[in-house]
Amino acid sequence: MALPQRKTDIGPPDYKQFLPPVIQKNYGNWKYHEVLTPGTMVHVGETGDKLWTVRVASPRLLSTDTIREHCDIAEKYCDGYLRYTTRNNLEFLVSDEKKLEPLKKELKDRGFKMGGIGPHITNVVHTQGWVHCHSACTDASGLVKSMMDELYDYFESKKLPNKVRLAVACCVNMCGAVHCSDIAVVAVHTKVPTITHENFKNMCELPTVIGSCPTRAISPDPAKKSVKINAEKCMYCGNCFTVCPPISIKDPERDGVAIVVGGKVNSLRSNPKFSKLVIPYISNEPPRWPKVVAAIKHIIEIYAKNAKKHERIGEWIERIGWERFFSLTGIEFTFQAIDDFTFMRDTMRTSSTFKW
Ligand code: HEM
Ligand code: SF4
Ligand code: SF4
Repeated sequence: MALPQRKTDIGPPDYKQFLPPVIQKNYGNWKYHEVLTPGTMVHVGETGDKLWTVRVASPRLLSTDTIREHCDIAEKYCDGYLRYTTRNNLEFLVSDEKKLEPLKKELKDRGFKMGGIGPHITNVVHTQGWVHCHSACTDASGLVKSMMDELYDYFESKKLPNKVRLAVACCVNMCGAVHCSDIAVVAVHTKVPTITHENFKNMCELPTVIGSCPTRAISPDPAKKSVKINAEKCMYCGNCFTVCPPISIKDPERDGVAIVVGGKVNSLRSNPKFSKLVIPYISNEPPRWPKVVAAIKHIIEIYAKNAKKHERIGEWIERIGWERFFSLTGIEFTFQAIDDFTFMRDTMRTSSTFKW
């Protein structure tokens, strides 16, 4: 019997068919751009053609109704063209200048928030959280909403020395950009996992479980046909749970978040940087996470007051020194911030140059 025809390996549709005609015409031939307001910019082509962009906040997790609303607006003002950015903002692409102000008015009337371009805070890159992931130790959507409500002025109007990129990951898998953001929230566990031994042999592959542990805390327990965990070596990463469901690490009372700062991905002035731990633990406090939000806002305010123009948070800290960062922010320096993993010697001070 003939197999039914199955279409496969067709890839995504060619993006070029979705470009506004002015982009198709000026593709690869843009001369310059100007940021007009924190939510609008204009690109000018070699031909003199212009394209206006209106950037609008989006919560990333969208209903089909909201997407249809995006489409309705794009059809009315942008000949049906729109795009989503790499930080999940929404951009309306306007070819006809006469439509720019009416578009902005309609967006405002409908409650859309315009902003995020230039030295401002833009959308928070974030993950699944309690909405959809089995390894989340905090929520993503709830935390991001709480953060952006408090930081909204920095999205719409309030200026900073440079852009501040924020990210949230709901476990140390770090899906997204937390390892390379100016300020990021990474959710953490704080206890050694427990194991339901009777399920181990049916649900887990022994070598995979042992190989999943970065500190080699796991060893076979042949008597139980399972594994045992050396509590002294475990630092609660949760990797073993990822490969073996009978290992349980979640704890609503003790899961929480850590805050890391100073990362960036671009190569402007300084090379890309990893973000570094400054606050090892803040407890989860849904639905508004007041302590986490306050800590982030405080770091942003101290940075805004002290950094030089164009300095990213990491560049600012490296200029003034980490001691000074901790004293300026009043964040307590705790032993958890001292690296004790494979390359720890690279992060220890091998110099007598420091500030009292
Ligand atoms: C009761 C016996 C077995 C159990 C419970 C078991 C369990 C597992 C589990 C849980 C995985 C990981 C799957 C994943 O990560 O999605 C796996 C992967 C794998 N197993 Fe087994 N396994 C068994 C026997 C075998 C045998 C007999 C072979 C080879 C002769 C084998 C070869 C593999 C290979 C090659 C993979 C990797 C496959 C991949 O990632 O694509 N397994 N197994
Ligand atoms: S960061 Fe962890 S918990 Fe969050 S979506 Fe990724 S794997 Fe799931
Ligand atoms: S939680 Fe992480 S460190 Fe602890 S035993 Fe599991 S894999 Fe190892």
